[in-house]
Amino acid sequence: MDSFADVGSRGREAVAAVDLVTGAVVGTARFVRDDDDPLSAEVAFEVVDDCQRHGVGRRLVTELSALARREGIERFRAAVVPGNESAFALLHRVGRVVKSSFADGAHQLVIELDPLPRSA
Ligand SMILES: CC(C)(COP(=O)(O)OP(=O)(O)OC[C@H]1O[C@@H](n2cnc3c(N)ncnc32)[C@H](O)[C@@H]1OP(=O)(O)O)[C@@H](O)C(=O)NCCC(=O)NCCS
Repeated sequence: MDSFADVGSRGREAVAAVDLVTGAVVGTARFVRDDDDPLSAEVAFEVVDDCQRHGVGRRLVTELSALARREGIERFRAAVVPGNESAFALLHRVGRVVKSSFADGAHQLVIELDPLPRSA
């Protein structure tokens, strides 16, 4: 696996990880910009069980956050169920949690995204 592609349009973006041998999509990460706050977007990501813990999620979320930053998005909102340590780890890699509440059985997080590097 080592192929990534943007598959969205402005305000709704996704990146996908593709197994180069089988052509199967093994992971996706996507965001949808909030209607009432254009600086914020809801994010979700997933990797198929067999490919987890190999850095696919990290690569997806890193690519997606750079894409979001380039589109002027400053914050991700994410719902993460208690105990989902890999999701927490991924989100902490791309920014800083500035708000956290608990609703609907999940931590409702707001992550202020790190600025893009000058060269990105
Ligand atoms: C969350 C998910 C996308 C992670 O994908 P992944 O490909 O396994 O992630 P990575 O291999 O890149 O690992 C991500 C980080 O989590 C850490 N991690 C993985 N499993 C962990 C565990 N059980 N406990 C603690 N940390 C863990 C890794 O060390 C890594 O940290 P690092 O980047 O600091 O080294 C995947 O587990 C998944 O699809 N879960 C179901 C859907 C979901 O929960 N989505 C998130 C809510 S939107």
